[in-house]
Amino acid sequence: MSKPRILVFAGSVRTGSLNETLAAFVARQLRALDADVSHISLNDYPMPLYNGDLEKAEGPPESAKKLHALFAAHQGIFIAGPEYNAGITPLAKNTIDWVSRVDISVYRTRAFALGAASDGRLGGYRSLMATRQVLELGCGAFVQPEMISVFHASKSWNEDGDLADTSAQRSARRAVEALAANARRYAA
Ligand SMILES: Cc1cc2nc3c(=O)[nH]c(=O)nc-3n(C[C@H](O)[C@H](O)[C@H](O)COP(=O)(O)O)c2cc1C
Repeated sequence: MSKPRILVFAGSVRTGSLNETLAAFVARQLRALDADVSHISLNDYPMPLYNGDLEKAEGPPESAKKLHALFAAHQGIFIAGPEYNAGITPLAKNTIDWVSRVDISVYRTRAFALGAASDGRLGGYRSLMATRQVLELGCGAFVQPEMISVFHASKSWNEDGDLADTSAQRSARRAVEALAANARRYAA
């Protein structure tokens, strides 16, 4: 069976980002399952804030076109999104919006999985739900039910780079395994 191709990125480009740590963890776990993983940073795909006049004058930015091509080249996509004011970060939303303006159908033909990490006790759960709404209702994506929510995230990792809590480890592993299996169902 061919390896599933999976794109992984965080909705934060902050130095020391908790969600970048989560994205790196998921990338390692997916590779251990023999997936072909591309782990990128949105820092390398800068885009202006979406503005309809800008789109009319210039079309989608190069970064949106490149990211769209990257989405299209993978069967699964994992997004680790921080929670801002109980919702999705402007960076993640702006990125999703611009890619949808290149071609929204790319969202309908791959498997998405979501994660969030926060020092709060809800583990970014509300941002998971908000991102699910954008992807499922807005873009028509399949977003798997298994998600990863890391609460008290600065203190959640052990020295091996794994989640310290064994039940959190198990649930993260279930989500990663589900993503690898779901991605195999889509042709990229
Ligand atoms: C504008 C703003 C709003 C925030 N709102 C929340 C929130 O609603 N819930 C939460 O758990 N953390 C909230 N935070 C804290 C972020 O979760 C925290 O800064 C986290 O480290 C950001 O993710 P990152 O480490 O991947 O950059 C907020 C941070 C900012 C800047």
